[in-house]
Order: sequence, then C-alpha cells, then structure tokens
Amino acid sequence: MTSKYECIVFLTGAGISQESGLSTFRAENGLWNKHRVEDVATVEGFERNRAFVHEFYNDLRKELRCAKPNDAHLAITRLQENFDGEVYVITQNIDTLHEKAGNKNVFHIHGKVDEVVCLNCGKVHNTWGECEWDDECPNCGTRGFLKPNIVFFGESLLFMDKVEVLLKKASLFVSVGTSGMVYPAAGFVQTAKYYGAKTIDINIEPLGFNPYFDRKMLGRASVMLNELVDELLSGGGMC
Ligand code: APR
Repeated sequence: MTSKYECIVFLTGAGISQESGLSTFRAENGLWNKHRVEDVATVEGFERNRAFVHEFYNDLRKELRCAKPNDAHLAITRLQENFDGEVYVITQNIDTLHEKAGNKNVFHIHGKVDEVVCLNCGKVHNTWGECEWDDECPNCGTRGFLKPNIVFFGESLLFMDKVEVLLKKASLFVSVGTSGMVYPAAGFVQTAKYYGAKTIDINIEPLGFNPYFDRKMLGRASVMLNELVDELLSGGGMC
C-alpha cells in the first residue's frame, strides 16, 4: 500500500524508554528529582567536579547497558521494514534502545551514554565500561580531557545540520514520549509544521495545548505507536 507520506520523522524523548523500565527526567521518580541538573548536566558542573560527573554517567552506563527495547521502539523497526517511504528518528535520549530494537537512521541530538569524547582531539570513543576523568585518550594520548559524549545544558546539540534538513523534508512529524520542556527540540514541531508536515503527539499524559500538533494520541507509547504504524502501513495515519 503506498502511503501518502513520503518522509516520516520521529522525535523521541524519555517516555519511549519508560516501558523498558528506564526513568524519565521530570516524573515524580525522575532522574532530575534524584540528581541536580547543575551537578551532572552542565559545563560548570563538569568543570567543578569531573570525577563526580564521570561517576554519574558510569552508573547510568551500567544501568543502560542491559536495558532492553520495548514494543514502542520495535514499532518503529516494523514501520522502517515495511514502509515505502523514508523514516528517520531524532532522539533526545542517550540510551541505545532505538539501535537495540533495530531502528535505522537514528540521530542522538543529546549524545549517547556509550560514548566519551576527548576535548583535546575531538575523537569520540565507544565504551560501555567505566571512564575516569584522568583516563588517557586512546587517540591523542593526553590525560584529563575525556568527557561523557552527552550534550550538557548550554552546549550545542549534535546533528543539527541533519535535523534542519529533516524538519523541512518531513511530511509527517511524530513526537513520542517527550514533555516538550527543553528547547530547541521542543520547537521542532513548529518548524516541521511551518514546512508543511502533518504533526502527531504521542504521550501518556495530555500535557498542555500545543497549537502545532494536528493530532494527539493519548496513551502508552508501546500501544499508540503500534496503532499508528498499523494505520500508516494500511495507507492511513490521518491527522
Ligand atoms: N508512553 C508515552 N509517554 C510517556 C510514557 C509512556 N509509557 N511514560 C512517560 N511518558 C511521557 C511523560 O508524560 C512526559 O511527558 O514522557 C515524557 C517524558 O518527559 P521528560 O521526563 O521531561 O523527558 P524528555 O521530554 O525526554 O526530556 C527532554 O530534557 O533534561 C533534558 O536532556 C534531557 O533529553 C532530556 C530532555
């Protein structure tokens, strides 16, 4: 069945990983209720105490290493494998559940938990192991320059050149499991709509009114996303 949408772009947030047992950020038991953002997600916090920040992401890496994708991530793989158009995933998440589910064309705009970057030579290294602030960079050999490859508040997002292309190209923009509290990601729907995309928001909570969404699908991502994929693969997906 040929779909009326040529290019579908997903923007995912912590809510898509919630059914894999991972904490979101702003819920009652969210990550930012257990740790101060200032201490573990800002440049100042990293400068203040690199060892503490590395310890935080070492712990998170240990938790995320064994995390398993859920039916929401798998729904995107089902769409990518059966849809005759293009499907891209822009994710705010640093977990690797999209990749573990077999999703392709995934862009981690806030970085990835299994990566560290050398602030001296810029090389990004993959690791699921522990990283200490004074570890040696395997590429340039310097010590004291390794940072978790996580975009801290105040830093530029990654892959923004690609994101701009996708937001212009999208004929359907689907936001999944994000509170829409953090810009610039929270503004992506407005850009996609401006360039003519139909827009859908999938969330377990109603959130506030957002004029840029044509359709709201209220419920768990694992259920709503599979419903939407069924619609799209049968030629529907009405907004
Ligand atoms: N299905 C659908 N939505 C869900 C589910 C679920 N099973 N569980 C939670 N949600 C929704 C919540 O209602 C909430 O709106 O997911 C959203 C999660 O919001 P946040 O905790 O704010 O996470 P996120 O939107 O990803 O945060 C964006 O903020 O702190 C930064 O870098 C951090 O990438 C993060 C960014």
